[in-house]
Amino acid sequence: TRTLPAPTFPALEANVGFSIVAFLGMLYAVPWMGDAFVAKDLKGLDLLKGVHGTVIPECMGLPGAAGYIGLMIMFIPFPFSKYFEDSLNGWGIEGAAKNGDLESLRMEQAVGRRTFPHQELALFLSSILSLLIATLLGFLDDVFDIRWRHKLPIPIIASIPLLMVYYAEGGLTTVVMPIGARWLFGNTVNLGPLYYIYMSLLSTFSTNGINILAGVNGLEVGQALVIALSVAFNDALYLPIWPRLAFGEPGALNELVLLEGGPVLRRGSEELIQRHLLSLYFMGPLIGVCLGLLYHNWFPARVFVGDTFCYFAGMAFAVVAIQGHFSKTLLLFFIPQIFNFVLSVPQLFGLVPCPRHRLPKLDPATGLLQPSTVVFASPPKRKTVVTLKLLAMLGLTKITYDKDGKSIVSATNLTLYTLILVYKPMREDKLTMTIMWLQFLGSVMAFFVRYGIASLLYDG
Ligand code: UD1
Ligand code: MG
Repeated sequence: TRTLPAPTFPALEANVGFSIVAFLGMLYAVPWMGDAFVAKDLKGLDLLKGVHGTVIPECMGLPGAAGYIGLMIMFIPFPFSKYFEDSLNGWGIEGAAKNGDLESLRMEQAVGRRTFPHQELALFLSSILSLLIATLLGFLDDVFDIRWRHKLPIPIIASIPLLMVYYAEGGLTTVVMPIGARWLFGNTVNLGPLYYIYMSLLSTFSTNGINILAGVNGLEVGQALVIALSVAFNDALYLPIWPRLAFGEPGALNELVLLEGGPVLRRGSEELIQRHLLSLYFMGPLIGVCLGLLYHNWFPARVFVGDTFCYFAGMAFAVVAIQGHFSKTLLLFFIPQIFNFVLSVPQLFGLVPCPRHRLPKLDPATGLLQPSTVVFASPPKRKTVVTLKLLAMLGLTKITYDKDGKSIVSATNLTLYTLILVYKPMREDKLTMTIMWLQFLGSVMAFFVRYGIASLLYDG
């Protein structure tokens, strides 16, 4: 190994600038664009405002996503700027060759570090391509209200460019087994193609997971903001700026340890840092966009962000998790969405009828939101009855029966927020805050699991 001076992160500083631009851009551009969206019929009724409900611009995630993608495209040269400098200053392979300095040319070639990282560029470009596809899908959904079983496979297709780059860069498909399972499976298991299926389903889950935890002012953006902050914090943990905190080998973190090659990544290894830096570059402007949109989407909302935002943000998370190889950690940040999705399964797959909107009901007298219900005009089918009774037993839905107490007339919808409201009706902004807090607590738990329990289950 050879040690280099402590690293600095000029591209990261630039990225902070881009994030601020994203935030200010959303803050000022969104109100200014609203009328144009309404004129094109991109508008929606704020359903939880009773008689005061107004029609407001929908699909404001579109300027969010477009602005974000535009900024990320302009950002592309920054992480690579050190290579421009290298050749200008006589460093790197190009520089050494230009100087005719054979000794350093040989060294640079042997180390092979300062050659242009095409892989990283490919990751960047494929990520942007996946984001573009997701944004397009979201926009089409806003315009045409695509049936959800039709839109399910689209994020899978959107993830193909990313998976291809994953494959090209070595494509590890082995997973390390927890210590307790090693006697059965061995230390590692190669999942092969299954791993690719898992990763493509990740994008389907992250996009739809956000889209179905929606319908209350500020909720879509609020949850995305907490997830983005969690991912960014997790990335920051890998930067060599925490000499003595979370990781052992404090010295090694301040040096760039040049790898001998081979797939095993050491903590503090340059490749690991690069991966998380790349993820951080994507999260910064996303946080900016979310903050700016949240300002306008917060109760009482002046705009809706629409499905465009849900698909765009969900895909951004899948993208960084796949390119950064931390999909399991990402899933830990999606605990409320996983819960909401699993609870929704009976409605999504037709065991229990699913109304077009499952959002809460407003009680105009108190201004509080009450749980919404699915109402049965005629006695429901047997499979529905069995499902609902089982869920009611677990405290996950509340059933009302007809006068004879025999057949079910209604059951509360199977969503996370309905469940919260069953136990405690509250105002719309309080509900959003509650779910954001849950999301935050989920992330705290995620860090505990990831860095506390995981080190017991896996060595190191
Ligand atoms: C998903 C949910 C649906 C929920 C809807 C709300 C599933 C399977 N689908 O459908 O139950 O009702 O999101 O977004 O769980 N709206 C508000 N206030 C808000 C946000 C949205 O009233 O804060 C209403 C507006 O009328 C808006 C509409 O919801 O126009 C948008 O619904 P859309 O995003 O198209 O619904 P889906 O994503 O299909
Ligand atoms: Mg939606």
